[in-house]
Amino acid sequence: MSYLSILLLVFIYILTPTFVFSSPLQDPDLVVQEVHRSINVSRRNLGYLSCGTGNPIDDCWRCDHNWEKNRQRLADCAIGFGKNAIGGRNGHIYVVTDSGDDDAVNPKPGTLRHAVIQDEPLWIIFKRDMVIKLKQELVMNSFKTIDGRGASVHIAGGPCITIHYATNIIIHGINIHDCKQGGNADIRDSPHHYGWWTVSDGDGVSIFGGKHIWVDHCSLSNCHDGLIDAIHGSTAITISNNYMTHHDKVMLLGHSDSYTQDKDMQVTIAFNHFGEGLVQRMPRCRHGYFHVVNNDYTHWEMYAIGGSAAPTINSQGNRFLAPDDRSKKEVTKYEIASESEWRHWNWRSEGDLMLNGAYFRQSGAGASSSYARAYSLSARPSNLVGSMTVTAGSLNCRKGSRC
Ligand SMILES: *[C@@H]1O[C@H](CO)[C@@H](O)[C@H](O)[C@H]1NC(C)=O
Repeated sequence: MSYLSILLLVFIYILTPTFVFSSPLQDPDLVVQEVHRSINVSRRNLGYLSCGTGNPIDDCWRCDHNWEKNRQRLADCAIGFGKNAIGGRNGHIYVVTDSGDDDAVNPKPGTLRHAVIQDEPLWIIFKRDMVIKLKQELVMNSFKTIDGRGASVHIAGGPCITIHYATNIIIHGINIHDCKQGGNADIRDSPHHYGWWTVSDGDGVSIFGGKHIWVDHCSLSNCHDGLIDAIHGSTAITISNNYMTHHDKVMLLGHSDSYTQDKDMQVTIAFNHFGEGLVQRMPRCRHGYFHVVNNDYTHWEMYAIGGSAAPTINSQGNRFLAPDDRSKKEVTKYEIASESEWRHWNWRSEGDLMLNGAYFRQSGAGASSSYARAYSLSARPSNLVGSMTVTAGSLNCRKGSRC
């Protein structure tokens, strides 16, 4: 290569905006379009697939009687911002045989903690039904899938799951509930490292600086802080097909208005059922881009979707059933900002089904070209949301038949 061309390359490198190089950041319009394309394909196949539901994630794998033999195919079924999360794909299967958690620094082989701290990719499954009451947060290493299919697995009654600066995590088919705070303890996070952890929030799933994360078909309820919180530079996340109930602060996405790195946070929330006994934050957003598509909201006590610090919220094809209380019909909640501030935020509702007086307060310049494009994708109105979310939460899968 000539001196000149090297110089040219250096210039191109310097002049190219940094987002090209920080791989998790995606073009939101393209990702949203891809989501709609996959929903469209699934709907078109409804007549042909006897097991089709119109839910593109489920239709990708649930028709397979042999799901047990082909577990890792799940890793190719995500959609949205977290679609590249491969979890433990191409890794060994690790079978959890021991529900215990006696030692967070030297976990016993066969325990869930021993599985999640390993360095190599692992696809983690469960020998039998079990309730795992952790002594400390389960601090995960990268490239892991926790796959609860085929067993009834509960992580409950102690601290729960923490993803701390890790990538490529899939959590599927687990019941996560009654999570407590942990901490003031040493916890191992890899075979060659452990460290001191202060008191934790007590979330169901806590994502801190995590990238390429997919939480699918979990049932979550009644935790100390959030059910799923993603903060501190987390991005490339999909939260799908979960069933959430009995909880106050459901999902916090971004922890502080002043933490502007969360501008890069991109989250897809699809096909979830937000059910009985939920109060607020489904989700509560800061800074980033949030695509909320085809979810069923059947219960909220304060509001469904809120935020501060100018997040972009793209709500499409959801079903919002407002509570009877006339003061709680509003889906949205704009926090902190004065009215003149939030008018410029981009909060959009398209094809949402508003029931029992529910209403969504939109904001932003409707003519913004990116939104004009997103609009024309036309999330088909939410008449299929019921059938797409009816099996949200952890599934009862048996070997040899469809899940
Ligand atoms: C999805 O289908 C709708 C309705 O037929 C159509 O308007 C839209 O363009 C399709 N979107 C994509 C991305 O294929």
